[in-house]
Amino acid sequence: MTNTTNRQILLIEKPTGKLGPEHFKLSDVAMPEPKDGEALLRVRYISLDAANRAWMHGATYRSAVEANTVMAGGGIAEVVSSKAEGLAPGDIVFADTGWQDYAALPAKHLTRMPRIEPLTYLLSVYGIAGLTAYFGLLDIGKPKAGETVVVSAAAGSVGSIVGQIAKIKGCHVVGIAGGKDKCHWLTAELGFDAAVDYKDGALFKALRAAAPKGIDVYFDNVGGEILEACLPQMNNYGRIACCGAISQYDGAPQATGPRGVPGLIVVKRLVMQGFIVMDYMKERDRALTDLQGWVASGQLKVQEDVIDGLENTPKALIGLLAGENRGKRMVKV
Ligand SMILES: NC(=O)c1ccc[n+]([C@@H]2O[C@H](COP(=O)([O-])OP(=O)(O)OC[C@H]3O[C@@H](n4cnc5c(N)ncnc54)[C@H](OP(=O)(O)O)[C@@H]3O)[C@@H](O)[C@H]2O)c1
Repeated sequence: MTNTTNRQILLIEKPTGKLGPEHFKLSDVAMPEPKDGEALLRVRYISLDAANRAWMHGATYRSAVEANTVMAGGGIAEVVSSKAEGLAPGDIVFADTGWQDYAALPAKHLTRMPRIEPLTYLLSVYGIAGLTAYFGLLDIGKPKAGETVVVSAAAGSVGSIVGQIAKIKGCHVVGIAGGKDKCHWLTAELGFDAAVDYKDGALFKALRAAAPKGIDVYFDNVGGEILEACLPQMNNYGRIACCGAISQYDGAPQATGPRGVPGLIVVKRLVMQGFIVMDYMKERDRALTDLQGWVASGQLKVQEDVIDGLENTPKALIGLLAGENRGKRMVKV
């Protein structure tokens, strides 16, 4: 790359089955020129999110990503030059930069960020992952000390923070994750009380053993069969925070379950609520104050999985969907 060239990763075809490297192409184009009201950004870190795959299905809380466009994605970037009031070279911003080295974007699409060390925390614990865990668990799950909290995709970026916050709040915490190693890591390193390997084949029974008093709060990152296993084990007046449905994103057959709905919800007086973290942005400072305090006191461990090189972004997303990551996965550009 020279400083007159911008590398971009294009989504060249929308997958109908599993996402693969063949759906992407690396392309060299001219550096973008910022127009009035825009800033030229050098992308530093690209966030890898399960939602990147969901956006390929169609419009969600944002418009769909289309074939033959730069793959969309959030990133932390540094302002190189600016034709926008209030933005100067060296400023750090969060934006949907897409998978590329440089982007020219309108100032109104950029969120100013503090220049902290390490910068990666702006994507992990103080970014979407940390805020999603915080608001989904505390505002929707409303856990009380002594209650049992179960979280799926527990070793991932959102899940690993959810479980630790639930521990801070005095709950009995059970994580559901794929594989023995991840489960061991959750209990040995992150302080979860128990972890269940959903790939082991006896999820319902294992969950019953790990949460013998039933489940008061289920933080659902995956939907499908895991949601179906949790529902009948919910206690009366339990809360289910519906955060995502990763089991349905990557070419899986359409889920048929969960069965017993709405009957179970009625009889157990459950609250089941979806949420989108962007709706909580006005309250971000409250969350950041708590998150920063817990990180400083060592109660909240930050786990990041940083992969080097823009060219490795497709592989990094494909690997995330297959469960390669622990904690927040991102690419250093
Ligand atoms: N509502 C919101 O505002 C919001 C914001 C951010 C994220 N989210 C949601 O939060 C969830 C986590 O996303 P993330 O970006 O933080 O990813 P992540 O948890 O860091 O990584 C995804 C993990 O999901 C697990 N997984 C993959 N396929 C699975 C399956 N079929 N069944 C069970 N687990 C599976 C894998 O771990 P294993 O090895 O354990 O399988 C993988 O490591 C997603 O559902 C996402 O859409 C929602």
